[in-house]
Amino acid sequence: MIRIKALVLAGGKGTRLRPITHTSAKQLVPIANKPILFYGLEAIRDAGIVDVGIIVGDTRREIEAAVGDGASFGLKVTYIRQDEPRGLAHAVAISEEYMGKEPFVMYLGDNLITGGISDFVAEFQKNKPNAQILLARVDNPSDFGVAELSEGRVARLEEKPEHPKSNLALVGVYMFDAEIFEATRSIEPSRRSELEITDAIQRLIDTDKDVRAHEVTGWWKDTGKLDDILEANRMILETVDRDIRGSVDPSCRIDGNVVIEEDAVIEGSVLRGPLVIGRGSRIVKSYIGPFTSIYYEVTVQNAEIEHSIILERSTIVNLGARMERSLVGKDVEIKKSATMPKAYRFMLGDASRIEVP
Ligand code: TTP
Repeated sequence: MIRIKALVLAGGKGTRLRPITHTSAKQLVPIANKPILFYGLEAIRDAGIVDVGIIVGDTRREIEAAVGDGASFGLKVTYIRQDEPRGLAHAVAISEEYMGKEPFVMYLGDNLITGGISDFVAEFQKNKPNAQILLARVDNPSDFGVAELSEGRVARLEEKPEHPKSNLALVGVYMFDAEIFEATRSIEPSRRSELEITDAIQRLIDTDKDVRAHEVTGWWKDTGKLDDILEANRMILETVDRDIRGSVDPSCRIDGNVVIEEDAVIEGSVLRGPLVIGRGSRIVKSYIGPFTSIYYEVTVQNAEIEHSIILERSTIVNLGARMERSLVGKDVEIKKSATMPKAYRFMLGDASRIEVP
């Protein structure tokens, strides 16, 4: 059997997630305290793939520090440097030497799919088309690349169409054989100056290549925006089991599926799961509500937090109203100074310092 490789895209601009992406890779934002990218690498490994090329851009040091040579995942990782985020098809084009002539899976490093990709890979290996795309039914197809099917084959792809011909959106997982490289050479940059993967796949269709589709069975999220990250966090937290390793004093109330990692300290607080508190974090006289992920070495004191993600080493103290649906970067400090309205919604960059009235 041929050894399939994977191409994971972990470069990009991440404009929709500024300011987090000014200083950090969006693919490393933790979902239930595990970087988004790791879920994809695990799905690739579970599909029996070993060799992974990771496309990296400006945030390459951070990605390389987190993933290393891939051995901790059971993978062999090679980094492929992209000088500028010139589009998904450009990322494919620069990986030609690494891929050689064999088919490969392309996986967008900010996408989260439950149910893995093993069926998708097996179907490709059975049918051996030139390309296979993964599709999900969505309510708002105009926000996505949309596929039009005809007798099981893909007839047409349209990027964010005004009048979509179906509700089948392109998910960020694809399979290609070496025909894709020729297709990436024969397309022009789009209006947003990127080489679009949809144009490259359309090129395959237009030159009578076999392009097939596979529908996702579980759920899928493209975590490029705040709301989608929070939604992904909610969905992953729905699957966690109660696991308490840190210390919890007797005055606390812990309801539901709550994960408290090693060396976390919980005092005089109410925790209502599903939620996760990272190692070395301190939660004092606070309420942490459902769908909240608190990463490591965070301090929360005299505050109420729900449906949010708080990154490492941040401090949240004396909030007069509940914080919800927020993403707080690393090393952020939020504290009350005087009176305040009832609710806040934050999307803060790394190392921000905020004092609210
Ligand atoms: P996108 O989310 O489509 O693009 P982006 O990261 O530039 O974000 P935004 O639209 O908010 O500016 O990218 C999907 C994935 O592919 C993501 O993990 C980043 C990665 N990517 C690359 O590695 N190289 C590229 O040239 C592009 C466009 C994306």
